[in-house]
Amino acid sequence: MILVTGGAGFIGSNFVLEWLAGGGEPVVNLDKLTYAGNLANLASLEGDVRHRFVHGDIGDRDLVERLLAEHGVRAIVHFAAESHVDRSIHGPEDFVATNVVGTFRLLEAARKHWGGLTGRDRDAFRFLHVSTDEVYGSLGPQDPAFAEANQYQPNSPYSASKAASDHLVRSYHHTYGLPVVTTNCSNNYGPFQFPEKLIPLVIHNALAGKPLPIYGDGMQIRDWLYVGDHCAAIRRALAAGVPGEVYNIGGNSEKPNLEVVQTLCAILDDERPRADGGPYADQITYVTDRPGHDRRYAIDARKIARDLGWQPAETFATGIRRTVRWYLDHQDWVANVTSGAYREWVQKHYA
Ligand code: NAD
Ligand code: TYD
Repeated sequence: MILVTGGAGFIGSNFVLEWLAGGGEPVVNLDKLTYAGNLANLASLEGDVRHRFVHGDIGDRDLVERLLAEHGVRAIVHFAAESHVDRSIHGPEDFVATNVVGTFRLLEAARKHWGGLTGRDRDAFRFLHVSTDEVYGSLGPQDPAFAEANQYQPNSPYSASKAASDHLVRSYHHTYGLPVVTTNCSNNYGPFQFPEKLIPLVIHNALAGKPLPIYGDGMQIRDWLYVGDHCAAIRRALAAGVPGEVYNIGGNSEKPNLEVVQTLCAILDDERPRADGGPYADQITYVTDRPGHDRRYAIDARKIARDLGWQPAETFATGIRRTVRWYLDHQDWVANVTSGAYREWVQKHYA
């Protein structure tokens, strides 16, 4: 079996669904179900014996040790994290608790489990740590894209906590020999993304007739990757990544935020025209910028292409239309997540 942490979140649930659909071995899915965890993402696996969901915290070392031993886990794919930059600005503590301390405890449990393995089981064990390009900091307009050897310069409590977790993971390889592989990926989009992040938020607000908030001048650049391509890259890194190595994953798809929002508006104009016939772009509203907002991220993904043969299958044009259609077809999912905690958060953040 493999242990997936955070498998009820956005990327984790896409990974679990695609892993099992592709004939991967059974999954133990450990998730604390914070506001970002949603079991509805995994509804299609109901009754599937290949998926065992465990509600719990990666920081609960006894629980993790028990799961690793009980299920003879041969690999950990570690997604669980607090993942939203804006939330990390309002309340950084949870980010340190989960991303730093939680990852540390997970590593300790993995070290103990791996230490008890022998022969081929020991050689085959992997700890795959899913991380972000944000650890590298912000690029100037002419700077080359982030490569694996780039200096770490995290600027938000989120990216700092992920950077700390990357360092711990690295140290467990160098100090204890734990067979870790780290992936640092650019911004993802696709099905099941919580509508606090730019793309699902804009789709949701557009349809609800609400403002589409653009931070600052909207010229911040992100390198967008369709979530299915990220999951495929993780599967490649798990299967063929060299222990101790880092692989950057990106979509070769740098876009300013304003262009992303205008593209979403144009697709919605086409797929679901406004009742009054007006363009969704009329709802674009400039709001106060995020403090310490990173200007540009871009990933140099040549290493994973060269060494592991991975390339994204979707372009931004195909992936973004697919994503809009998914949200249009799953308005019940959106209605479900936009109640409760999400509403409180939106009120506090955009008040
Ligand atoms: P998400 O916020 O949608 O999901 C995180 C999941 O982790 C949720 O299901 C949540 O309940 C769970 N979780 C949180 N704290 C936990 C804890 N202490 N114990 C167990 N489970 C816990 O995040 P996401 O966007 O799916 O990101 C997944 C991973 O990928 C993160 O590590 C993130 O840093 C990384 N990443 C995300 C992106 C992106 O664009 N979303 C890009 C690159 C890397
Ligand atoms: P986000 O989806 O929060 O991802 P990240 O901060 O990890 O890159 O934001 C993507 C970009 O969109 C980022 O530059 C911030 C910007 N943004 C807005 O302009 N308006 C919004 O309402 C949100 C949520 C983000």
